[in-house]
Amino acid sequence: MDDLRDKYIGLIANAADETAIEDLRVQAVGKKGEIALKMRELGKMTPEERQVMGPKLNALKDEINSALSAKKSALADAALDERLKTEWLDVTLPGRGRRQGSIHPISQVTEEVTAIFADMGFAVAEGPQIETDWYNFDALNIPGHHPARAEMDTFYTHRAEGDNRPPHVLRTHTSPVQIRSMEKQGAPIRIICPGRVYRADYDQTHTPMFHQIEGLALDKDLSMANLKWVLEEFFTAFFGTEVKTRFRSSHFPFVEPGAEVDIQCKWENGSVKVGEGDDWLEVLGSGMVHPKVLEAGGIDPNEWQGFAFGIGIDRLAMLKYGIPDLRAFFDSDLRWLRHYGFASLDQPTLHGGLTR
Ligand code: DAH
Repeated sequence: MDDLRDKYIGLIANAADETAIEDLRVQAVGKKGEIALKMRELGKMTPEERQVMGPKLNALKDEINSALSAKKSALADAALDERLKTEWLDVTLPGRGRRQGSIHPISQVTEEVTAIFADMGFAVAEGPQIETDWYNFDALNIPGHHPARAEMDTFYTHRAEGDNRPPHVLRTHTSPVQIRSMEKQGAPIRIICPGRVYRADYDQTHTPMFHQIEGLALDKDLSMANLKWVLEEFFTAFFGTEVKTRFRSSHFPFVEPGAEVDIQCKWENGSVKVGEGDDWLEVLGSGMVHPKVLEAGGIDPNEWQGFAFGIGIDRLAMLKYGIPDLRAFFDSDLRWLRHYGFASLDQPTLHGGLTR
């Protein structure tokens, strides 16, 4: 029995892993293991012999079992130590720097314009970029034969063969949102509608997609005077300096009378400064909403009147932040975006200042 004991205690001490331990357990104390075989021999012994050998065999079995489980947990501890060594982590190391994204100047300027008009009581309205020709043209008093349709270099969608309905268009301006908002809200109304618009045109000052902000205010007694005040107030807040404006009589089918608005500027070594000098730069179209447009929006022109305007956002962004080429806005050049972009946490507000 001593040999048996020495043999297994030795083997267990040298076992390399849990599988070896399990093999030894089966061999020594398993149902058909060596101890079990010895137990069977007890039957052939005399009662006296059995009384001595029985407890001895049981003690040996216990000894081997505890040696097995001691070795097993020693192996597990060693494995854990090994893992901890390789998985060690220095939590005091500085974090890896990640480049922050930036806010595109168009988004920034849209936020700025929205903040200024919100302060004057204008809510934000939106409409689809794919429009029916009715919202984009007819409802705005631009009938089928009207030259304005051709002038706008419209993108048309395709209809299925045999479908004779007029094709949808990519909206050529934000003015259709006027109609949708009148239908939805009725009068009185005070909204601005920022968004993307599309025209088939491409050169240094035109891109096939660009941005506008439409404005619409309807009430019982609004006049051109209110329009002028609102726009002057807007430009002064936006450029952060008193900006003179010039209203030039002009024609848009959806307003009567209509006016184009120029802002005061100065050209200096090829770049322009707003709010100084005695040159003028055209920045928007505006006017008193045409009675036919009110009717198309379901509003009684004998009861309500008001003004509308449409501003090019891209142009405003170029002027305010000295960006020379319109096309760069849409090139997705990371170096350009990092240079002209804005910190994402600097939300423009009237009280916090509109620029960084
Ligand atoms: N929709 C015109 C354009 O894209 C801009 C415009 C002019 C909008 C006069 C207006 C307006 O609301 O009254 O060229």
